[in-house]
Amino acid sequence: MTYPHPHFKTVELKHASRLINHGPTVLVTTAHAGRRNIMAAAWSMPVEFTPPRIAIVIDKNTYSRELIAASGVFAVCIPGASAADLTYAVGIATGREGDKFQHFGIEAVPGAVTGAPLPTAGCVAWMECRLIPERHTEDAYDTCFAEVVAAAADERVFANGHWDFREDNAELHTLHHVGAGNFVVSSTMTKAKPLPGAPLISC
Ligand SMILES: Cc1cc2nc3c(=O)[nH]c(=O)nc-3n(C[C@H](O)[C@H](O)[C@H](O)COP(=O)(O)O)c2cc1C
Repeated sequence: MTYPHPHFKTVELKHASRLINHGPTVLVTTAHAGRRNIMAAAWSMPVEFTPPRIAIVIDKNTYSRELIAASGVFAVCIPGASAADLTYAVGIATGREGDKFQHFGIEAVPGAVTGAPLPTAGCVAWMECRLIPERHTEDAYDTCFAEVVAAAADERVFANGHWDFREDNAELHTLHHVGAGNFVVSSTMTKAKPLPGAPLISC
């Protein structure tokens, strides 16, 4: 399997949902017949456990949607804090005006399963996805459903199926868009402790 970075390790598909469970802003990448594209998306979420499926809002008027409809695949790449400027830049420009990879100097390798471009720098995880054809999506809606068919993450910040945001890996923390180019960066983790008393149910 091809990894965009030596620290990237395979994420088991049963853990793929955890990559976006906390709502990071992501980069959606696509390629079809010699054309490729990248855009920002703040709205995505897991919707099924097995096989892992996600929902992601990709405006039907975007160039990305055109390429996804044509190829049936895309990648969801999760930028780290150091890629905030790039994330915003690809979210306010359209690939219809030119190749954003070339324009912004984004190096990428094709994903082993889907061929969707995976940036070799700036991202801390990615999921390769196959679009689930839905009539409602084709007709009217911006929400797309997809099955995750491969995933990998930077082991310095996501290992054993869990994010591990620490002070010493701050540049690898994820971005969360709060509007107008402002992002919150994930930071302090807090571990829930059991409340006093016996649990009502155990799970
Ligand atoms: C931080 C950020 C988050 C965004 N989130 C979404 C989103 O969730 N869904 C969406 O359709 N567009 C979103 N956009 C807008 C697209 O990225 C934008 O329309 C982009 O220019 C589309 O590019 P394309 O035409 O090359 O596909 C976002 C933009 C930014 C800057």
